[in-house]
Amino acid sequence: MSTVSLKDVTKVWPDGTVAVDNLSLDVDDGEFLVMLGPSGCGKSTVLRMIAGLEDPSEGDILLNGDPVLELAPRDRSIAMVFQDFALYPHMTVGDNIGFPLKLSGVEQLPRGERVGDVASALGIGDVLKRKPSQLSGGQRQRVAMGRAIVRRPGLFLMDEPLSNLDSGLRAELRAEITGLTRELGVTTMYVTHDQAEALTMADRVAIMRKGVLQDVGTPTEVYGRPATLYVAAFLGSPRMNLLEASVFVHLERYIELNFGEQALYLPWNDIRSRAVSHYHGERIVVGLRAEALTPVAPDAPGDVLRGRIRYLEHHGHESLAYLDIGATAIVIDELGPAAPKDVEEPGPFRKLSGALQRRLSGRGGATAVQTREAESHNVLDPGRHSRRTAELAVRLAPYPAISPGHPLNIAVRMDALHFFDGRGARIDVGWR
Ligand SMILES: Nc1ncnc2c1ncn2[C@@H]1O[C@H](COP(=O)(O)OP(=O)(O)O)[C@@H](O)[C@H]1O
Ligand SMILES: [Mg+2]
Repeated sequence: MSTVSLKDVTKVWPDGTVAVDNLSLDVDDGEFLVMLGPSGCGKSTVLRMIAGLEDPSEGDILLNGDPVLELAPRDRSIAMVFQDFALYPHMTVGDNIGFPLKLSGVEQLPRGERVGDVASALGIGDVLKRKPSQLSGGQRQRVAMGRAIVRRPGLFLMDEPLSNLDSGLRAELRAEITGLTRELGVTTMYVTHDQAEALTMADRVAIMRKGVLQDVGTPTEVYGRPATLYVAAFLGSPRMNLLEASVFVHLERYIELNFGEQALYLPWNDIRSRAVSHYHGERIVVGLRAEALTPVAPDAPGDVLRGRIRYLEHHGHESLAYLDIGATAIVIDELGPAAPKDVEEPGPFRKLSGALQRRLSGRGGATAVQTREAESHNVLDPGRHSRRTAELAVRLAPYPAISPGHPLNIAVRMDALHFFDGRGARIDVGWR
């Protein structure tokens, strides 16, 4: 059993690439922590430094409170599973799993018992005599996991272990992996670029962007109260609607959030009103997830946005309507393959707000202190490629009998709105 502590860890490659930027993160004993971020954000580099396969350029790494940078990889009691794991093709499944034990001199009989236990825990007890070529992809992945855990490591590092499998199998193995690691009580750091995987598997999720930790918390915390615009945009499907809004304070009455052709009104007694009111006359980003939006009758009272369907997307269990509401959307770069690539050079960073600092550093003594801010530029700057016509994603029942061009009125749950400034930091209760 292990705790992991990363202290101000930075990794700069010889070519000057900053793969990991001043990362501080604590993982509790027995915890399942998922590191989430798009390709190239530094996830594998973090795991490889913990495993001892790379040295940090700066900072310290502690396992169970002891510095380990001087220790060789084999002395760290760590097991690692990669996306591109390799099994020994000429050995049986049983011999593949037992190989690390054989190397460390465990006798044949106890070895066979340990292999049997691990194999049945992984549901591959009946294929121990087969060769890897006679297994399905999922079974091979289980063998690789078995080989990693058979030595009972204190820490389990998994680097996108499911990304080569088809989606049905991925879903099945997700539950198996978390079930197994919890049963064994092994501290696990699991890396993925798949936000659904992170939200379903993690005790806590740490979200990375360009080597910088953005947010860390339970799935409920990071999904429900994302610390930055980037985290808000990364988590959830469909992605959060991010709309540009001008703020106008109507004293003692309400705060108008003006989207261009229409507006929403935040009641004066809403606890967030004070924080948002500081932006009077300025623009902010308002985030609305699809679950905050409900289609209503044309004459419905309350907080309503009116739009026209641009296009529909059918997902079987639901359909998504994308509405033109005459608003401007904010597009966050480098969310992954689906989003456009950022061509801007990162500019100078500014300190995070006090509230965000506290939030990132204060969660039960755990985890991240993050001194960089979310965006290196202002996403609200006119003329930037991060702004485009909004298409508000709204959930409908499957295959609705309407088509593009159809008008739709949408009730908005005002308590479910998220607010961010142009730099991507959350506007929250009581700061600025
Ligand atoms: N051995 C290396 N030499 C130079 N640059 C590297 C090396 N390994 C990774 N990088 C770079 O470091 C950054 C982070 O890579 P990596 O940790 O593999 O990201 P991820 O696992 O999140 O996809 C990327 O820009 C990548 O190109
Ligand atoms: Mg990687």
